[in-house]
Amino acid sequence: VTNEISSPDRLHVAIIMDGNGRWAAHRGLPRPAGHRAGAAAVRRVVEAAPELGVGTLTLFAFSSDNWRRPGDEVAALMGLLRRYLRTELARLVDNGIRLMVMGRRDRLPDGLADDIAEAEQCSTRGARLDLRIAIDYSSRDAIANAVAGWRHGTPPQRDEFRRLLAGRGAGHDVDLLIRSGGEKRLSDFLLWESAYAELCFVDVLWPDFGGDDLATAIADFRRRERRFGGLCDVEHLTAAE
Ligand code: IPE
Ligand code: IPE
Ligand code: MG
Repeated sequence: VTNEISSPDRLHVAIIMDGNGRWAAHRGLPRPAGHRAGAAAVRRVVEAAPELGVGTLTLFAFSSDNWRRPGDEVAALMGLLRRYLRTELARLVDNGIRLMVMGRRDRLPDGLADDIAEAEQCSTRGARLDLRIAIDYSSRDAIANAVAGWRHGTPPQRDEFRRLLAGRGAGHDVDLLIRSGGEKRLSDFLLWESAYAELCFVDVLWPDFGGDDLATAIADFRRRERRFGGLCDVEHLTAAE
C-alpha cells in the first residue's frame, strides 16, 4: 500500500489558522477584530502559496466545535467568511485559484451557503492553486460519514476509503501541516490525511502570519527527510512504483 506522493512543486499544505482571539486581546480589541485581521492574513498566504510550490492549500476556518462559541462571535465569523468570498472571488479567479469548501453546509446561514456554491462554480477553471477552506468541518465526522457511505459487505481498502473521503473534499494526503498561535494539537483537522504529514507549530498569531512565515515553514519542510516507515525517501518512491 502506498501513500500519495506529491511532486515537490505541488505540495499539499494545510494550515490551522489559530490565534485571532489572542491577537485582538493583546490590543484590547474585541475578538471579531482579530478575525478580521485574520482574513487579511488569508489573502497574503493564498497569494504567496503558488510561488512556493504549493499545489493545494487547505485552511481551517471554522471547526464544527466552534459552534460552542458565543453567538455574536459565531455571527461575526460567518459574516467575515461571506465577505471574504464576495470580495475575493474576482481576485481568486484572476489568480487562477480554484476554491472548494469542505465541511457541512446545512448549518450555515443561507446566504453563506449560496456564496460558497457560487464561488466554487466561478473558480472551477483555476489551475494554479487548489484552495480548500474548511468551514463547519470535523475530521472525525468526515471519517464517520465516509464509513456510513460504504454499502458493500467487505470493509473498504485504503485506496477505496481515500476515494470515499475525497467525495467530501477530503482524503488527500497532507505534506505539511502548519498551526499558528502556539498550540500543539490538531483540533479535529485532517486526521486521516495527516498520517505522514510533517508538522510545523509556530508561535506567530494568525493575523501576523505572512508569506514569509509560509516560506520559512516550507523551507524547513524541504530539509526534512520523509521516510514513510521505510529507510529513506528514494527507497519509498521505488517501492511505490
Ligand atoms: C482561530 O482563532 C480562528 C477560529 C478558531 C475561528 P481563535 O479565535 O481560536 O483565536 P484564539 O485561539 O482564541 O487566540
Ligand atoms: C481550531 O482552533 C479551529 C480553527 C482554527 C478554525 P481552535 O481555537 O478552535 O482549537 P482549540 O479549541 O484551541 O483546540
Ligand atoms: Mg484558538
